[in-house]
Amino acid sequence: MSVMTSTPDRVHIVGLGYVGLPLAVAFSKHLTVTGFDLDPTRVDELIRGHDRNGEVQLDSVGGDSLEYVTDPECLSDASFIIVAVPTPVDENNEPVLDHLESASRMVGHAFKSRSEGLQPPVVVYESTTFPGCTEEICGPAIGESSGLEPGVDFKLGYSPERTNFGDAEHTLQTVIKVVSGQDEETTSLIETVYGQIAISGTHRAPDIRTAEAAKVIENVQRDLNIALVNELAILFDRLGLSTSDVLDAASTKWNFSRYSPGLVGGHCIPVDPYYLTYKAEEAGFHPSLILAGRNTNEQIPGFIEEKLRSLLGGKGKHLTDCRVLIMGVAFKPNVSDIRNSKAITLAKLLAESGARIEVYDPLVDVNIMERMDLVPGGDPSEMNGRYDAIIVATGHDVFLDGSVDNYCEWFADSGVMIDIPGDFSPSLQDLMESRGDLYWRP
Ligand SMILES: NC(=O)c1ccc[n+]([C@@H]2O[C@H](COP(=O)([O-])OP(=O)(O)OC[C@H]3O[C@@H](n4cnc5c(N)ncnc54)[C@H](O)[C@@H]3O)[C@@H](O)[C@H]2O)c1
Repeated sequence: MSVMTSTPDRVHIVGLGYVGLPLAVAFSKHLTVTGFDLDPTRVDELIRGHDRNGEVQLDSVGGDSLEYVTDPECLSDASFIIVAVPTPVDENNEPVLDHLESASRMVGHAFKSRSEGLQPPVVVYESTTFPGCTEEICGPAIGESSGLEPGVDFKLGYSPERTNFGDAEHTLQTVIKVVSGQDEETTSLIETVYGQIAISGTHRAPDIRTAEAAKVIENVQRDLNIALVNELAILFDRLGLSTSDVLDAASTKWNFSRYSPGLVGGHCIPVDPYYLTYKAEEAGFHPSLILAGRNTNEQIPGFIEEKLRSLLGGKGKHLTDCRVLIMGVAFKPNVSDIRNSKAITLAKLLAESGARIEVYDPLVDVNIMERMDLVPGGDPSEMNGRYDAIIVATGHDVFLDGSVDNYCEWFADSGVMIDIPGDFSPSLQDLMESRGDLYWRP
């Protein structure tokens, strides 16, 4: 049976998180949108106009074109469904496909009560995954729970999310949207639908597996590039070289790509490579380079802990007797998201070593920090004379507002600052060194 030829006037979005909600809002400017999420609290908040992720100003979103629901039966007569549910890894770094599988079964179950005579629906996945997942796992899950045949009674597609949350430049509107479908006709329909919101255009991948692979390698490449510069930072520290000075010099060559050393956290870059390595191992291939990069990036909190220990040692202090402030606990600058934040890994590591750790992040809710067993440092006006060391873990812009000299006042006596993003170099660095404090950046 052929897929519908006219553009649908309604899309259904399954999963209203960081990816699904902005997508629902963008589509609602062109089509009617039904947003479905399993979590009733999330749906209640959205109905009340509150996005806890701070991605979308819902009070500016127009009324009737966007509805939020928790009843999966809304999917039974849907013509175009987009699935954006989580794809995490477990404690062994194996893909957890439960969300994708259960969302697919739920879609299939809803299709059982589909009205007669409707054209085959299209189900497009946006979740990051390995090549083959949509057609080998999601499609069959819909098929088994609905009794329908994939590719005949319903069509599959894949269009990865690749925007960068917290980044006003790379948005749904400005990033090219990769689209793919089970056949040419389905790909064309998906391209037309997404073409309404992807102002910068779409790219047709030849098939779904290619689009899945393209998405995952975008993050593999970034992980590996950062891993290389992280390894160099560890090496240059051993050699007594400044990594940033070396990078400044090397970057003057036309084909040198500059990356900054640092903590690699969050739910994409440290997670997605494991989806590809899982598929590689399944195919009998050991992806040693990708795994080595992951391993290097995971070692950075331990490297920073060792560095702090040695810098404090140079001042005759022991980590166990010190009070340390970690600035920035979100996993990346200018967002409130703490999922898989390596700043938190670092805080826990230092606390296990016996240091008294406090954290300061004006973007993250204090209650969330306390639930993570972190100790908020409180109001900055009360921080003077408190700390032996400060580690800037996440470089929020807000840290650079106003007079950064005040941070020197937060030291108990002469202090140590580790500035992982390097944002305070050279201004604060010069001041600190003139006061006899130690400043170090990777
Ligand atoms: N957040 C990002 O920056 C980003 C960027 C690119 C790709 N991705 C990928 O997009 C996917 C979604 O990520 P996210 O950050 O939006 O996740 P999220 O955790 O913010 O949101 C997922 C939502 O899906 C809901 N959900 C879970 N199972 C469901 C089900 N069976 N039915 C309906 N709703 C369900 C959850 O309640 C939650 O609200 C992941 O595969 C992720 O890797 C995320």
